[in-house]
Amino acid sequence: MKITVVSPANIAFIKYWGQRESNLVLPCNDSFSMNLSACTTTLEMERVEDPIIQEMQIKLFEKEHYEPATEAQLGKVTAFYKTAKIFLHETKDFGFRIKSSNSFPMKAGIASSASFFSALALAFSKAFNRDLPEKELSILARLSGSGSACRSVPDGFVWWHKGENSPDSFAESIAASDYWDIADLVLVVSTEEKKTGSQEGHGGAQTSEFFNDRMDYLELTLPQIKDAFQKKDFTKFGTIVEEESYNFVNILNTQKPPLNYWTDGTLQCIKEIHNLRKKGTECYFTVDAGANLHLICQKKDMGKLESHLQAIPTVQYVISNLPTQGTHIL
Ligand code: PMV
Repeated sequence: MKITVVSPANIAFIKYWGQRESNLVLPCNDSFSMNLSACTTTLEMERVEDPIIQEMQIKLFEKEHYEPATEAQLGKVTAFYKTAKIFLHETKDFGFRIKSSNSFPMKAGIASSASFFSALALAFSKAFNRDLPEKELSILARLSGSGSACRSVPDGFVWWHKGENSPDSFAESIAASDYWDIADLVLVVSTEEKKTGSQEGHGGAQTSEFFNDRMDYLELTLPQIKDAFQKKDFTKFGTIVEEESYNFVNILNTQKPPLNYWTDGTLQCIKEIHNLRKKGTECYFTVDAGANLHLICQKKDMGKLESHLQAIPTVQYVISNLPTQGTHIL
């Protein structure tokens, strides 16, 4: 059996940061995101009878050839295989050969773990001969450890309900990818490896003295952004997105130990985005846990913004994304 799965990365308009249960990857708050058209993982899986065979090869962005995965990378895959087996109540084992390639560079401030693990969740469930409903597939992707992978499963614009327990902490589409003509331009200012991974980062979130304030803030903000989204009120929507990213970064900066990701390049881009807005092009920024910026704009402004942004000296390159479908079989 051979299967090819494609899955997008996603950018959160309201971030997931902090877990109330780390083993089950249960978040402290709901989050809301958009799937990214130019940032996908394509994963081929061949199921083989011999369960001893567990292999993975990776092709990096713009590279010609696949290379064997590192032990650490393969370790995460085999751990998730075990999780999938338990989740699906399966007893029989199989072996696998995986080939994975990304349409975007790693270390570019785009969560490649979300596109990879959502793709892997679908590939493993198919290899176990299961046709999971989307909700179940998102729960399985969440259990990979990269919680935001659950948001890559459904189409377009996606809401992750924090839920009470594991069976109701899942992601669902609140609008299809053609619902709204907005775009995410990723401004890559740094490709340096992050020193702290997201698992460790989530673990520290609640040590910030502002964490409870953030929870109160999100309780008010989540219905507000949903309302702006439903009314397609781009000004209100973008204002909330930008405000929330400052709120999120404040937690990063004040958790113990603090995570300070922004660089001079980040700040320069923020200034430029504010300048462009002052001059009349509506655009707002958001960030992930990193130095690179995501600029949210309307599709009609994409072209002119791209050329402005490319000209910022600290911007290495721009990756332009529209909303797109979720995890699917090719
Ligand atoms: O899913 P993780 O464990 O990689 O954490 C994702 C955290 C952020 O990317 C910073 C925010 C988010 O909601 O995507």
